[in-house]
Amino acid sequence: MPVHIGAKAHDFSDPMGLLSDCHRRIEMFLGVLQGIAGVIDRPLSEENAKALDSALQYFRQAAPKHNADEEESLFPRMRRIRQPEMRSAIAKVEGLEKDHRWAAPLHEEIERLGRIRLSGSSLTGTEIAMFREAVDELAEMYREHIRVEDEAVFPVAARLLPDADRKAIGEEMAVRRNIRPTGAGAKPA
Ligand SMILES: [Fe+2]
Ligand SMILES: [Fe+2]
Repeated sequence: MPVHIGAKAHDFSDPMGLLSDCHRRIEMFLGVLQGIAGVIDRPLSEENAKALDSALQYFRQAAPKHNADEEESLFPRMRRIRQPEMRSAIAKVEGLEKDHRWAAPLHEEIERLGRIRLSGSSLTGTEIAMFREAVDELAEMYREHIRVEDEAVFPVAARLLPDADRKAIGEEMAVRRNIRPTGAGAKPA
C-alpha cells in the first residue's frame, strides 16, 4: 500500500484551492486507514506499516492545521460579509465546526491503537473493532463534510471575499506551516 501524494495544484495565492487540495490528501490518507483497517488483525508488512505511519502523522500534524485554516482564518472572515449568498454558506459553518470537534476523539483513538500496532504489539479483538469502527465513522463524516466545504462553502468564499482577505488567509496558512508566502509558487509542505 504505497503512499502517493499528488502534485499540489494550488499555492498560497489561492487559499481556497489550497484547502481543497488538503481535502484530497485527507481522502487519500483516509483510504490508507481503511486499507489498514482490513488487515489490522494480521502482521503488518513493512509497506503497510510505513503507510499507517504516514497516515497517522498526517492526521496528527497536518490535519489540525487544516482545521485551523478554516476556523481561524476563513470562517471568521466569511462571517463579516453580509451578502445573502454568504449568509447561506455561513449557515453551514457551525455544523462543519461541530464535525471538527466530533472527529477529534476518533482521531485520538486511531492514533493510540495505530501506535500500539506499529510498536509490534497486536491488538485485542475489542481494539481491532474499535479501530475499524473509528475509521468507518470518520470516513463517513468526512465524505459529507468535504462535499459541503468544496461545493457550498469554498466557492462562495472565493467569489465574495475581498482580495485583501484572500491574501491574508493565504499568509496565515503559510505562517501556520512555517513557510514564507513569497507569492505565486509557494506551496505548503
Ligand atoms: Fe472542515
Ligand atoms: Fe476542510
